[in-house]
Formats: sequence, structure tokens, C-alpha cells
Amino acid sequence: MENDQARPMPRIGDKAPAFKAATTQGEIDFPKQYEGSWVIFFSHPADFTPVCTSEFMTFATLEPKFAELGCKLVGLSVDGLYSHIAWLRTIKEKIEYKGMKDVEVKFPLIEDITMEVAKSYGMIQPGEAATKAVRAVFVIDPKGMIRAIIYYPLSMGRNFDELLRVVQALKTADAFSIATPADWRPGDEVIVPTAGSCGVAKSRMDGKEEGVTCKDWFFCTKKIDKEKVLSTIVKK
Ligand code: BEZ
Repeated sequence: MENDQARPMPRIGDKAPAFKAATTQGEIDFPKQYEGSWVIFFSHPADFTPVCTSEFMTFATLEPKFAELGCKLVGLSVDGLYSHIAWLRTIKEKIEYKGMKDVEVKFPLIEDITMEVAKSYGMIQPGEAATKAVRAVFVIDPKGMIRAIIYYPLSMGRNFDELLRVVQALKTADAFSIATPADWRPGDEVIVPTAGSCGVAKSRMDGKEEGVTCKDWFFCTKKIDKEKVLSTIVKK
């Protein structure tokens, strides 16, 4: 597309833009082939760079934790396939970092030398870098809808506890029709959405709704046991 400034960035609540591309694991048809799974689709600035290397080692090491949540990983940079393959081989053969070594990256890494896919996801942010993707994270649900977006600058590696927490929180919100407060973790109190009718709001305030505590009409919480949350959101 000639005028990239005019291209809208995908937003939360949008369908994930569709594309086909070559990856280190073969051709990908995205997000179609991931229907039914959660996906973290992320970009990194460049192969053979240190922050990206630390991130790939961490993504690969935590892949089983994401898989427990039914969440698959897909990476992208504007490098070519041979660069990707050589970099991932070097990581496995030579790099040891924070106790991680012999790390094999098994999830697909997309080649995007035309930057078409990166541009369609708003991963090229020229104020930061015109020829590299920023560190973008798109959390996409089993219906192919974008549910969360996080961007980090080139200089800053991602927080992986937070990426896992985002998937846990979205799955919990969906399963229990609740919202999650600041810094929520499984087992913490959750937010009960504001009641739609005066009668429900009043019975909540009067403590008549089982397990729900209200500080005011707009701030009601309840406890959901950690075991109940985890047995719902973690795949057996
Ligand atoms: C890095 O991954 O180390 C990196 C990549 C691009 C710019 C700065 C740092």
C-alpha cells in the first residue's frame, strides 16, 4: 500500500488481519489455522540482536506454560527466512542466558522482508524505527479477535509474567463474566460488573447476592478460588 500513514492500526475488538506467509515451520495461514486456540502474535526488531535473543529464549522456555493455557506463539520480524534459521540455530548451539541453554525455538517465526504483515498490524512505528518492527504483542482469541495489544520500544525486553497474566485474565473474564482488578492474579478477588437494574444493585448492596461484597453500588467484588480459576483456564 502506498500511503502507510493512512492505514488503520488494528485495535482491540477488531478481527485479526489475515495473511499467508513463510515461516521457520512452513507456510502459515493466519489467523485461520489458529481458530479454536488463543495466540500470542508478536514482533521483534531484528535477528542476531541481544534483547531479542533473551526474549526468544524466554518465549521458547515458557512455551509449555502458554500451551497449558491453550495459547500458541507466533513471532515475526522483517528479516528473511535464512537469517531466522541461522539465528535460531546459533541460539540453540551457543547462547546460555539466565540458566537457559540448548534452547530450541519450535514455534513459527514469520519472514516479512516486504514489511507487509508488520505494516498491517501497526508493528512499524517510524518514530521509533522505520525499517524494523517494534516489540508488539497481539493477544488473539479462539475466534480470531484481537483482545489485547501491548507495544514495547526497541530497547526494552518484554515482561513474560505479564504476558501469561494477560492470557489468564482474559480467559477468566470470559469464563466467569467478571472483570479483573489491578495486578490481579488467579485466586485474588474479581470485580463483579455493575448491576444493570436498581433491584439487583440494591440486593447486592444489602449483601443479599451470594458471595458478593460491595463498597458502593459501582464497586462489588467476589472471591473465586485459585483452584477453580486454574481448573477452568488451564487445559488438562
Ligand atoms: C536488541 O534486541 O538487542 C535490539 C534490537 C534493536 C535495537 C536495539 C536493541
